[in-house]
Amino acid sequence: MIENNGKAYLEIAQKIIGRMARYLDESSSGSVPVVQLRSQQELMEMLKLDDLIANGLSTENVEELLETYLAHTMHLHHPAYMGHQVAVPHIGSAFAEMIHGIANQPMSIYEMGPAAACMEQFVINWMLDKVGWSEEGGGVLTHGGSLANITALLSARAKAAPEAWRTGTPDNLIVLAPENAHYSISRAVSILGLGSDSLVEIPTSADEVIIPGELQRIYLEQIQQGRKIMAVVANGCATSTGYFDPLREIGMFCREHDLWFHVDSPHGATALLSEKYIDCMDGIELADSMVWDAHKMMRTSTLCTVVLYKERNQMLSTFTQKASYLFHEKEMLGEDTMGYQVECTKAGLGVKFYWVLAAYGEEGLGKYYETLCDHAKQFYTLIISTPGFECLPPQSNILCFRYQPEIHDQLTLREALIREGQYYISTTEIKGKRFLRLVIMNESTSKAIISGLLAAIKRISQASEAD
Ligand SMILES: Cc1ncc(COP(=O)(O)O)c(C=O)c1O
Repeated sequence: MIENNGKAYLEIAQKIIGRMARYLDESSSGSVPVVQLRSQQELMEMLKLDDLIANGLSTENVEELLETYLAHTMHLHHPAYMGHQVAVPHIGSAFAEMIHGIANQPMSIYEMGPAAACMEQFVINWMLDKVGWSEEGGGVLTHGGSLANITALLSARAKAAPEAWRTGTPDNLIVLAPENAHYSISRAVSILGLGSDSLVEIPTSADEVIIPGELQRIYLEQIQQGRKIMAVVANGCATSTGYFDPLREIGMFCREHDLWFHVDSPHGATALLSEKYIDCMDGIELADSMVWDAHKMMRTSTLCTVVLYKERNQMLSTFTQKASYLFHEKEMLGEDTMGYQVECTKAGLGVKFYWVLAAYGEEGLGKYYETLCDHAKQFYTLIISTPGFECLPPQSNILCFRYQPEIHDQLTLREALIREGQYYISTTEIKGKRFLRLVIMNESTSKAIISGLLAAIKRISQASEAD
């Protein structure tokens, strides 16, 4: 057994920190496989999880456990990691996690972590400022974008049907969203009691971007059928393609018809930090609510999301019509956030992001976003000039491409590729067609890496033809 005191902590922490420093450098240099996939059963045996529980973790065996564990991690800092929209964390976030592991400040009640609560409010204010909502706006941190979408749509319901909290959701409420809205939107619609049929698709273009004229048509069609629109949802940007919906046109339409406009932008909101790419978020100020993840493009370890509201009052009235004063009846030294969120106890989500912001800087984050998007553009040029490959032009750091789709199943190609452990990529469907998908998350991902990836795909496809 490991004693729970400072001496034991220091002894083991030094070993762990030394190993993690090496892990960071090895991953970043690409000198280890990006991932080594094993079956869950095999890996559970390799980790000797039973033995450690029976015999106890100690100063002696901690390094062995760590070694096996780290060998079977997804190496996010690796230049060939191009899989999902998960942050490649800055070390600032690791420092915050280290402190949290001992101090364990649960967020929600100001008294339970006053300093942490200040950092959290600071980052919310900083984000509000970036959107241009600092005067009237408000925000709350949630455990992830999915919960954030539920929270924001609950606020939309409170506005469209203020009695719904007490009497239940009226059956004519609907939500309009593009077909490629993240699945958490349809889940939220069902969780909120509207029923999944109440999520009405806004038709999109061939690359799945909302067509504003179609929004008008669907709106009129639904109104004529006696439906009430609770919210219009747009992507900033779409999980699959990385494409942004035309926020300004949609926002203007929503203003004109007094509709709640929610922008699901956990990934793309970071474009607000880049002069070069800020136009992708043009019109965001017309939204009523938006979602922004620090654990996607702002280098914060999983997870840290904020729901931002243009009007703080909308946040206050989300969970019960009385919340706006109930939580202010007593004299308070600071603000409790329980009235505005689904969760009761929360981790110090914003604290981690505060450390990253302080350590890496706003400029650093903006440059990071910019570099990754620039990389994606260069890689696009490389991919389309390679015989057999087709690729969609990127708007962010997400690239969708295919290799000889008439001959090869893209899912099979990816499966074989990631088993080799040299590259990690994902796939997506666009208008029913399967694409290979790159999310460029590392500045060190180079053209040489992409050339190597394309060659590997070609080699795998040739081998499958020979079989
Ligand atoms: C557009 C969009 N919305 C919501 C989510 C869910 O966010 P989270 O993974 O933080 O729950 C994602 C995740 O990829 C997303 O891309």
